[in-house]
Amino acid sequence: MSAKRSAPTRVQPLKVGIIGTGIGRAHFNGYRKCPHVEVAAIVDIDADRGRQLAQEWGVRRAYSNHEDLLNIKDLDAVSVCTPNALHASIAMDALAAGLHVICEKPMAASVEQATELAAAAEQAATRGQLFMMALNNRYRGDTQLLKQYIDAGDLGDLYLGKCGWWRRQGIPGLGGWFTTKAMSGGGPLIDLGVHALDLCWWLMGAPDPVAVSASVFDHLGAGEWARRGSPGSFDIEDAAVAHIRFANDAAIILEVSWILHTAREGFFCEVMGTAGGGAIEPNFRIVRNLHGAPADVLPAAPKVPGHEGEIIHFVDCVRQGRQPLSGARDGLAVQKMLDAIYRSGSTGKPVTIT
Ligand SMILES: NC(=O)c1ccc[n+]([C@@H]2O[C@H](COP(=O)([O-])OP(=O)(O)OC[C@H]3O[C@@H](n4cnc5c(N)ncnc54)[C@H](O)[C@@H]3O)[C@@H](O)[C@H]2O)c1
Repeated sequence: MSAKRSAPTRVQPLKVGIIGTGIGRAHFNGYRKCPHVEVAAIVDIDADRGRQLAQEWGVRRAYSNHEDLLNIKDLDAVSVCTPNALHASIAMDALAAGLHVICEKPMAASVEQATELAAAAEQAATRGQLFMMALNNRYRGDTQLLKQYIDAGDLGDLYLGKCGWWRRQGIPGLGGWFTTKAMSGGGPLIDLGVHALDLCWWLMGAPDPVAVSASVFDHLGAGEWARRGSPGSFDIEDAAVAHIRFANDAAIILEVSWILHTAREGFFCEVMGTAGGGAIEPNFRIVRNLHGAPADVLPAAPKVPGHEGEIIHFVDCVRQGRQPLSGARDGLAVQKMLDAIYRSGSTGKPVTIT
């Protein structure tokens, strides 16, 4: 199949399809906020679920196979919201069909798949097509504002980032695709770590990673899976910590868990520089000194939820024919860091990233 579509003009409605209807619901809600965008069809391999949601959402067509969606003649774009191991093949099919693509995180279940998809996205870009990674945390009102402060130089040179997401008892879909490495590519590191790491790394100016030292743990999850008599499999980690060093001598410390005996839970991301720091959660604050004494600033950030912001950005980029803030290169770079963390964890040795 060949490229066939150029960026539509403002007067034409943009026709999109959603493949996978779990987090696909957040994409649908985002599209609903965009004027002149029609969700033309949804796809779910679970045909009953697809039909039911199409009815609930007021979408005319529901398919159980993404190829049927790609055959719709006047479709412009798709959201790829399937389990991780299917991202690359489905996104490449959509690109080959001449469509613009927004793909859920992580880019793929392995560096090999992500590399193949990045090459396809680069080729598609030469034909005027867009590939965007759905890294929703970049598109929140608070992270966008923090990035503006950083880019204006308010925090000086950023040299340390600390980020992560800790869950005490939060394994998703126990025994299903999330806990089956062949479908997910990994556990909390690739699921939650991708969010925290991407956000922290982007805020810090996306420096080139050079080395990783990590510990990856699997003490609790499989026991929990067995204790609950869950079906399927559990062959992924349940927690990880990593130190990533960058070419500019900056570093990020990443910590993630799905199950851990911890008193602390939640998402966190903090960046620290020569003139100040910035923390997104639990509270958005800029950390500064005034006349030598600590004096924090609590900015009133616009309340834009990330999922909504990312879809608005995707639609804008498609309409204006410009490349998105989170493209294939970023998706691949983060995937390589995650892969290096897994390798360092399994060998017990630092890993160099080239
Ligand atoms: N950005 C975020 O905040 C966020 C949150 C949750 C999930 N995700 C990502 O979204 C993706 C899906 O996760 P989820 O939580 O929605 O999972 P889920 O299991 O809840 O939903 C996935 C859906 O995809 C369907 N599906 C499976 N194979 C399919 C195929 N070949 N074609 C069409 N549909 C298919 C399933 O039937 C299911 O309805 C994952 O990559 C995950 O990492 C992102």
